[in-house]
Amino acid sequence: MKLFLIAGARPNFMKIAPLIHILDNHSTIKTTIIHTGQHYDKKMSTLFFDQLRIPEPKINLEVGSASHAVQTAKIMERFEKVCIDYIPDMVLVVGDVNSTIACSLVAKKLNIPVCHYEAGLRSGDRAMPEEINRLVTDAISDLYFTTCKDADNNLLREGIPAEKIFMVGNLMIDSLVNNLVRAENKNVKLHKINSNTHINFNDHFKSDKYAIMTFHRPSNIDDANTFRILIEQWLKISEKIPLIFPVHPRTLQNAKSFKLLKILSSAPHLHLIEPLGYLDFLAVMKDSLFIITDSGGIQEEATYLKIPCLTVRKNTERPITITEGSNRLVKPNKIIDNVNKILYGKIKMGHIPKYWDGKTAKRIVKILENTNHNN
Ligand code: UD1
Repeated sequence: MKLFLIAGARPNFMKIAPLIHILDNHSTIKTTIIHTGQHYDKKMSTLFFDQLRIPEPKINLEVGSASHAVQTAKIMERFEKVCIDYIPDMVLVVGDVNSTIACSLVAKKLNIPVCHYEAGLRSGDRAMPEEINRLVTDAISDLYFTTCKDADNNLLREGIPAEKIFMVGNLMIDSLVNNLVRAENKNVKLHKINSNTHINFNDHFKSDKYAIMTFHRPSNIDDANTFRILIEQWLKISEKIPLIFPVHPRTLQNAKSFKLLKILSSAPHLHLIEPLGYLDFLAVMKDSLFIITDSGGIQEEATYLKIPCLTVRKNTERPITITEGSNRLVKPNKIIDNVNKILYGKIKMGHIPKYWDGKTAKRIVKILENTNHNN
């Protein structure tokens, strides 16, 4: 079976890595990695391929940034040519980014079966671009790999036959488990933004209390007022505990265009740094006292690591991280109240969900092998 593995944006890379490693030299499944080029900066892409030991993709569609329609259309146009040239037997897409929906649509229209890893997650919020990507991808896929029972239930409710759904666990946790020791031993450098200087993480933070934070969702940082409220909260929090903030390119761009960068940079203990590589982020996250984020994947990693996680969103497509894990949803103007609770010892640790055990890639390959035999 010729299998295309699609990856385009940063959170995709840790999902494909465990599959690539286990499928290396497989006797019947031959994989080709297709990078769409949705993320292209060294710190958003190449660094992840290096640290996760993913071989350089043979095919890079190099689409770059653009509006949703243009980016999706460019991926579709370029991916269609690749499919026609290589004729894969199956296309495996992961997550919920624009590359996921674009490649699924192209494959299905060429009658190539599509399997979706991380199928069935729903936030119920159709204002989120990712929710549209999830709904459309799941409406047309042939095989569904899910991370939890509630994803299975969402798919069943939408009319997907049970025999197409496989709860396999969490590939992101495979990557975490596979790399925890390497991260532990890493000498992490925190490069300050807009400066050539860096702080050595092990010397300055490792043995003390600190928190880590990430923000990039349009709902938080595309609106100047919300962004301002968030900054007020972050400044106050940094007076209580050092806050390490790897700044996503989109967030930095908006801080500049809203003229908020000066105030954002004004607090001595709010450390604005360049985006971190996979191992570096893991090293910093794993010893943090708590995490503040609007990311999807970090809610899951925090749950596995049993670190309190404050997710600044109205909803989450990953409710299991709340019902079973260490996550809770908070409003932008209430972050500090929740931080205070944590600082006073009210810590939510939760437990690790079923099959989030580092063996998900093995389960997926087993299913793909059987699919292969049936063909
Ligand atoms: C995308 C995903 C989001 C995911 C996030 C992780 C969609 C709809 N969104 O959002 O689900 O959580 O990735 O990071 O697919 N940019 C760079 N360098 C890069 C990539 C982007 O500077 O390598 C800048 C560009 O100015 C771009 C902006 O960041 O316009 C946003 O990038 P984009 O890929 O459109 O969306 P993300 O916000 O990264």
